[in-house]
Amino acid sequence: MTISGSTVSIIGAGNIGSTLAANFAAGGQDFLLAGRDADAARKTAADLDGHAEAVSVDEAVDRAGVLIVAVWLNDFQQFIADYGERLVGKVIIDPTNPVGPDGRGGYRKVISEQESSGQILAGLLPPGAVLVKAFGTLSAPTLAAAAWREPDRAVLFYAADDGAAGDLVAGLIRAAGFDPVRVGGLEQSIRIEMFGDLHEYGALGRTVTRTEALEAL
Ligand SMILES: NC(=O)c1ccc[n+]([C@@H]2O[C@H](COP(=O)([O-])OP(=O)(O)OC[C@H]3O[C@@H](n4cnc5c(N)ncnc54)[C@H](OP(=O)(O)O)[C@@H]3O)[C@@H](O)[C@H]2O)c1
Repeated sequence: MTISGSTVSIIGAGNIGSTLAANFAAGGQDFLLAGRDADAARKTAADLDGHAEAVSVDEAVDRAGVLIVAVWLNDFQQFIADYGERLVGKVIIDPTNPVGPDGRGGYRKVISEQESSGQILAGLLPPGAVLVKAFGTLSAPTLAAAAWREPDRAVLFYAADDGAAGDLVAGLIRAAGFDPVRVGGLEQSIRIEMFGDLHEYGALGRTVTRTEALEAL
């Protein structure tokens, strides 16, 4: 595929979006930041040493070649419905975990057991927009605490069908202070979503180094 520019946007300035924003800023990665609440996005961006530019969601979509859509699954589906053809030529990064409250203080899956949000969302994109699954494997507090770990970086798994898009996301994972490990194509998304065997809240249960990650694959 051709990626139309390498400007990066984070869309959604909640727990994951703002944590990732801080990690990128710490790594010197510049990006655009857009939230539904423009004031909150501006405040978050103002604390990031000039690495973040707060913009509208429209601007974040149109100016960037890489969009990290850090919103819940239903909002992501609506985002694709709203922006459709404007996403063509872009890499769309999906950190979603398809879960909601279980009523007992925990989480339950909101799609069927065998489905992954990565594959559902990829199927909604127009031809020419490419989805990569990444940045959803760790909780926001762990994403903050485990970044830039020395001497062994913590791993962030990602799933990609497209080699060039996957490499680009691997670079962003490094820029966020983690070591990228590809689990395979998007059919492997389920393994890195919540309850999957490579998710922090799955069988793995913790962050891992590259050696441990490769053993777990
Ligand atoms: N929190 C975690 O530890 C964690 C870990 C891994 C993955 N994830 C995944 O990351 C995603 C975000 O989770 P979160 O905890 O960061 O949620 P959150 O704190 O609720 O943040 C989501 C943000 O997205 C905004 N938003 C929704 N639709 C938008 C749109 N169309 N344009 C711009 N902004 C939009 C929301 O704005 P409003 O407040 O106005 O709705 C909210 O600020 C979810 O899919 C979740 O499964 C979360």
